[in-house]
Amino acid sequence: MADPLDSDLILARLGPAVRARMASLDVQPQVDSTNAELLRRPMPEGGLAAVLLADSQQAGRGRRGKDWASPPGGNLYLSLARGFPGGLARLEGLSLVAGIAAAEALHALGYQEVRLKWPNDLVVAGHGGRSGGLRKLGGLLVEGAGAGTGQVRAVLGIGINVRMPPLEEVIDQPWIDLATLSGRAPARSDLAAAVLGHWIEALDVLDRDGFAGFLPRFRALDALGGRAVELHLAGGAVAGHACGLAANGALLVRLEDGTERAFHSGEVSVRQGPVDV
Ligand code: BTN
Repeated sequence: MADPLDSDLILARLGPAVRARMASLDVQPQVDSTNAELLRRPMPEGGLAAVLLADSQQAGRGRRGKDWASPPGGNLYLSLARGFPGGLARLEGLSLVAGIAAAEALHALGYQEVRLKWPNDLVVAGHGGRSGGLRKLGGLLVEGAGAGTGQVRAVLGIGINVRMPPLEEVIDQPWIDLATLSGRAPARSDLAAAVLGHWIEALDVLDRDGFAGFLPRFRALDALGGRAVELHLAGGAVAGHACGLAANGALLVRLEDGTERAFHSGEVSVRQGPVDV
């Protein structure tokens, strides 16, 4: 089924307050990576957002240096560039906020089963495979350019599996798309408008009020809270139970020796551990 990305439709779906916070909205048939392309373009002034969508990406980028499968015609590849005060240290909170707002956008469209696997994978539990196993519906990659504590240019990128066509490459983890999840997929332009509306509002709240107000919003979406997890660090793996977030967005884990430790998203990758019985 043809499901074109339509910039006029996306703008029409956004309220005037959100449109007023946008410097540009560009839809391309193909780019290397919507994140990479926005990082090459000049940053908009005054906290306005530059938005880029592509129907396909030739070199879609995932977290931790992985590729992001980006075939044409069915999925969402969307990036937003915006300036923030406060330096590169802001990026970890930004990345969590972008994930929270994206999951809330999917809830608003009726996909209530979407959860967040820290730091910002969009996941769904169940749907085949190991009992309680999480399937990845989408992911976020936040990249930044800037120095020290000054103005930082942040690029938020999101990929959502909407209607995944047959793939030549293998995706190395369990995944799902919205069409499989509910038997129906939203029009991609509607999905893009929902994500953008939630992102732009959440970024303004983060800028004005800081990260604290997002902690309960994360808790309501947390796919790992109370679950057994395995953490993979540069020096090896540790096991424990996830127990929410620290005030700065780090993942709190009760380790097997009973101590609690905080992990930052740059230092660790998290897998769901053996299912608790
Ligand atoms: C992840 O590994 O979970 C993050 C995936 C992020 C993919 C999106 S698609 C739009 C944007 N452009 C990219 O090259 N990557 C992000």
